[in-house]
Amino acid sequence: MFADNIEEGVFSVRSDGIPTEGVRDQYADGKAAKVWEIFIGDQKSRTENYRNFLVDLLKKNGCKRILDVACGTGVDSIMLLQEGFEVVSSDASDKMLKYALKERWNRRKEAAFDKWIIEEANWLNLYDDIKHVVGEGFDAVICLGNSFAHMMDSFGDQREQKQAIKNFEKCLKPGGILLIDHRNYDNILETGSTPSKSLYYNSPHTSEIKTSVLFYCGKPALTIMDYIIAAGNLRSEFRLSYYPHMFEGFKSILKGIFGEKTKHDIFGDFKSLKEIPTPAFYIHLIQKQK
Ligand SMILES: C[S@@+](CC[C@H](N)C(=O)[O-])C[C@H]1O[C@@H](n2cnc3c(N)ncnc32)[C@H](O)[C@@H]1O
Repeated sequence: MFADNIEEGVFSVRSDGIPTEGVRDQYADGKAAKVWEIFIGDQKSRTENYRNFLVDLLKKNGCKRILDVACGTGVDSIMLLQEGFEVVSSDASDKMLKYALKERWNRRKEAAFDKWIIEEANWLNLYDDIKHVVGEGFDAVICLGNSFAHMMDSFGDQREQKQAIKNFEKCLKPGGILLIDHRNYDNILETGSTPSKSLYYNSPHTSEIKTSVLFYCGKPALTIMDYIIAAGNLRSEFRLSYYPHMFEGFKSILKGIFGEKTKHDIFGDFKSLKEIPTPAFYIHLIQKQK
């Protein structure tokens, strides 16, 4: 199978010692989870970069109930809870979820945190795994922080990525919105490098993101990023790998699932693309048909 060649045979996508069966949890060795807070930089200043933009966008679209499908350690979910949204969070990695669950426990006396639902769920089975909390559907599903690109194209026809996005759509109520982002892989492929600072990841301790791209049958199939974090005595290196979503290709996958005529706005680093023509991140807002 394609995945065996690319992910396991040719290039190692995860640190040693992680099982290769079941959900491909790249965070399973706990290395990234442990230094995630350092990697993303000061939590408050991270979300400060896009808090107003995101909150305004959600409010303008009448969103109250949000599903964060790649909550990781909970950074965005926590920010939204603090802003008064009702939040359900999910992630496939128990190593990452551990930190979100800990925060929920520590702040359980605050009503918003007491009501915060956190589930372990893989996007491929997302709807089935969380249908008991979907109800009439969410006003918004968010998948931020270059998370979606973790899903590889195991069969060479992007069927799993499409299945995941269909699941996101299924969790939305009619008229609800999906906010999903990816790094600017067009630019990464053009320049051969990944900016080590960006609106999401702005830690002064990330010294470098070494970037490699693997081509398979003439097409870019895998981007490997080796992160080097150095903070005082702590030095950590972890490797994460991503499917390089090209701007036009990703647009057409979204349109294929949500429909050609639906509202689809694209932002660059949470600003208008006119203002930032070559952003580090593209953020797509696409609406489920009413
Ligand atoms: C880059 S982290 C981002 C977390 C958080 N959104 C942030 O910005 O800090 C990506 C997250 O996506 C999750 N993830 C990757 N593939 C997944 C899948 N197939 N199903 C559910 N979660 C997945 C990982 O476990 C990880 O916690």
